Amino acid sequence: MAERLVVEDAWKVYPGGNHALRGPSLSVEPGTFMVLLGPSGSGKTTLVRTIAGIERLTSGRLVIGERVVADGHVHLPPERRDLAMVFQDYALWPHLNARDNVAFALRRRRLGRADARRRASEMLERMGLGHLTDRFPVQLSGGEQQRVALARALVGGTGLLLCDEPLSNLDADLRERLRVEISSLVREAGTTTVYITHDQLEAFALADRVGVLQDGVLVQLGPPEDIYTTPASLFVARFTGLAGELEVTVLGPGKAPGYVSVQPVGVGGARPIDARIGGGAGGGGALATPTAPALLAVRPSAVRLCAPESTSAHLAGRVEDSAFRGRHYELVVDSPGARRLTGVVSERRVPRGTAVGVELDAAGCILFANARRSPLAPPMENEPEESRPAQQGEPDARRAPRSSGAPGHERSRTAVTG
Ligand SMILES: Nc1ncnc2c1ncn2[C@@H]1O[C@H](COP(=O)(O)OP(=O)(O)O)[C@@H](O)[C@H]1O
Ligand SMILES: [Mg+2]
Repeated sequence: MAERLVVEDAWKVYPGGNHALRGPSLSVEPGTFMVLLGPSGSGKTTLVRTIAGIERLTSGRLVIGERVVADGHVHLPPERRDLAMVFQDYALWPHLNARDNVAFALRRRRLGRADARRRASEMLERMGLGHLTDRFPVQLSGGEQQRVALARALVGGTGLLLCDEPLSNLDADLRERLRVEISSLVREAGTTTVYITHDQLEAFALADRVGVLQDGVLVQLGPPEDIYTTPASLFVARFTGLAGELEVTVLGPGKAPGYVSVQPVGVGGARPIDARIGGGAGGGGALATPTAPALLAVRPSAVRLCAPESTSAHLAGRVEDSAFRGRHYELVVDSPGARRLTGVVSERRVPRGTAVGVELDAAGCILFANARRSPLAPPMENEPEESRPAQQGEPDARRAPRSSGAPGHERSRTAVTG
């Protein structure tokens, strides 16, 4: 049965004082596929290892199903948490063949040898590995080993599946195929899944919900579509894919509520661009005090090419690179004075050196203040504090960790929205 997972104010300070987790809180509903996305060193592995029980939390609380598995007093060992794990390195038993590796998971759950082997064979058959059951790990390719590891994780029908970058050691083609397999197998099994990756495309493709980690802080949590359209910070916007960034000044309100009109700085011939105000909840209605200068984050989906003389062109540019991608071309466009735009999609071939106009769609242009704390997006006064997005570096002494095990934290509020 799929279990609910609750993580409350999780802190992990490693010996030596490294603050790997700074209080993320989240809950994963039964049967949900949650992806935690973040750059290397952001605390993803630490979080998943504390959920598994391999690492101890410094402070905070973990609940799986109805059971508190970790808090200041309790620390259940991994084998008593009723969960399964798939890691980057496949971690199969080298002395057992594929079937017995899978059966091992069932034997641990006290199933008889014959039954365990039969169910293991069935599971491998279902995953298209029926012909490999007698092979040992060294006789299997990386992709096959990872599928055996996945079979082992799913065969026991545990309520919670943890995956730590299971595809990162595979080549691109296999990654894509195995991603589809994981997605469908896990959803078929109805398991609650926490899946960790540093790959934005993989995260968006797999997730029901995405949590973004930055330096041990959960900075945004929500459906992938929300993260893409409404990134809570410039960090999240950058980490989830930009064509480029433009330095701009704010001219005034835009054509619709929540939008502003901005002017690129130092770009000759540029026209005012409509942009959404970034910074998550509370961003709307902001702009009482337009500030110079701000940064416009441009999603690749917002960029369209047009004729250089077109009145709809916001910028003039020149095609610097043109890569054929099968279904379309991907261009790099250089606009004098602006930073270059990459990942621009074009249906037709546009030779290098071609002069083009660049049209920017307001929905994919997101404005962030350059300052540490965005004056463009102050929190709204009647908004409950807990639903506000995280503000990096904003001290908040009221949410100190429960135990005294983590002294001297730099406090950062953790997003619990979404
Ligand atoms: N066993 C450890 N001892 C000390 N520091 C660690 C240990 N494991 C990880 N760290 C540190 O904790 C931070 C988070 O690491 P990790 O959870 O592995 O991040 P990620 O999986 O996102 O790359 C990093 O700064 C890393 O160097
Ligand atoms: Mg890791």
